[in-house]
Amino acid sequence: MSASSAKCEISLTVNGESKIVDAYPMERLLDVLRHQLGLTGAKEGCGEGECGSCSVLLDGVLVNSCLVPVLQAQGANITTIEGLAGKSDLNRLQQAMLECGGAQCGICTPGIILAASHLLSKQPHPTPAEIKEGLSGNLCRCTGYAQICEAIAEAARVEVAE
Ligand code: FES
Ligand code: FES
Repeated sequence: MSASSAKCEISLTVNGESKIVDAYPMERLLDVLRHQLGLTGAKEGCGEGECGSCSVLLDGVLVNSCLVPVLQAQGANITTIEGLAGKSDLNRLQQAMLECGGAQCGICTPGIILAASHLLSKQPHPTPAEIKEGLSGNLCRCTGYAQICEAIAEAARVEVAE
């Protein structure tokens, strides 16, 4: 095994907590999150960057963690679905997904919520077209997207009302 493929220590911040992992540089961030850090919210769907079920935020940018070598996360701030909710409460998006029936089998749901959260952080009052565009990297085989889009619109309405 060459030196470049040896394991190394990688420091990163995950959901506000500093972590050091011992990983191969090209190991997928998705695997490190799930297997080393026990954060199983990010799911593996396609493993090829097509479905968005593995989405996380890396320094505020929505990425497919199945395509990110963990070395790229050195020193970065990572937010997973586990970092979005409060300790006991669902956040407004999670609540809206529940109320609108936006989650069925649930495989896509963490990635959809992260994509929606990212969208609402940039555009608090998205139009239906902006919601569709915001979800363009996330596939759902179950819902037909209507309930998901409604949930995001509902979450935006709740935010305005609060
Ligand atoms: S599992 Fe990463 S994009 Fe599908
Ligand atoms: S709820 Fe099943 S893939 Fe979206």
